[in-house]
Amino acid sequence: MIRNFVDLWDISPEEGWLLLQETVGFKKGLDRNRYLEGKNIALYFTKPSTRTRVSFEVAINHLGGNTIFLQEESLQAGRGEDIKDTARTLSRYLDCVVIRTDSHKKLEEFAKYSSIPIVNALTDMSHPCQILSDVFTLYETFGEELQSIKIAYVGDGNNVCNTWLVGAGLFGLKLFVATPEGYEPSSLYYQAGEDLCRLTGGSIYLTTNPIEAVKEAHVVYTDVWVSMNQDRKEEKLEALKPYQVNVQLLAHARADVRVMHCLPAKKGEEITEEVFEAHADYIFTQAENRLHAQKALLKFLLTQR
Ligand code: CP
Ligand code: NVA
Repeated sequence: MIRNFVDLWDISPEEGWLLLQETVGFKKGLDRNRYLEGKNIALYFTKPSTRTRVSFEVAINHLGGNTIFLQEESLQAGRGEDIKDTARTLSRYLDCVVIRTDSHKKLEEFAKYSSIPIVNALTDMSHPCQILSDVFTLYETFGEELQSIKIAYVGDGNNVCNTWLVGAGLFGLKLFVATPEGYEPSSLYYQAGEDLCRLTGGSIYLTTNPIEAVKEAHVVYTDVWVSMNQDRKEEKLEALKPYQVNVQLLAHARADVRVMHCLPAKKGEEITEEVFEAHADYIFTQAENRLHAQKALLKFLLTQR
């Protein structure tokens, strides 16, 4: 059976925990098998990327596979070829396509018509590879305590925030989300997260109060206020000002709070330079872990049965 990774709910909680454990093996260098020998994987991107592109290319290379980077402008899809025809064509050549695109619907359409695994490398709605890897970063730090720590997401209710809701559900985490009115995460992702929480014992609490979310938190997570392909609107930036992760806000968290950011960061907006630099080591470990977590994901998707 073809397995896609379009959203975090495409894997079960058991599979999620398995991926975290497998990631440990990859990170420690205990698993050096070339699971992707002879496989060709395309990265089809319509938006810029530093971490996702490079970590996938290096992960595939370490696993013995070959990558083909496809920018939409260079494909006939860039001239309007139907996405379903592109999907059906690429399925005849490749073993997997990793896609970053502006439209989640387009990704779903691609996955529907493709006969090889499709991986979401970020859409306007979700970023499952990011959150899978971020949960691994927390697992590395907190181990068995992972389900009892308080995680606060503060800022824009965007693709990363949406995916955190599902991540909390999948892994049974305690997530507090503070976003301004009018910039809340998607209700579809919230519902998916809540449904999973009922199975796993996780909990999601939504608020407009950043102090309430951050209070005694073990982890404070933020992301940019203006995502790729969004317009910079003064009204939105103004609404988000009280949600900046700065020293004053962090004073409400635990003294040993871990600050996370998926990157790229816009210092002076969602996070201050001071806080960013104080937590840079953790933030770049978070970035590094994309490489290890994606190896586990690719092994899972491409070597099953
Ligand atoms: N966090 C993340 O996905 O970074 P890139 O946009 O650089 O890939
Ligand atoms: N929310 C950000 C995440 C970047 C990794 C964006 O979509 O631009």
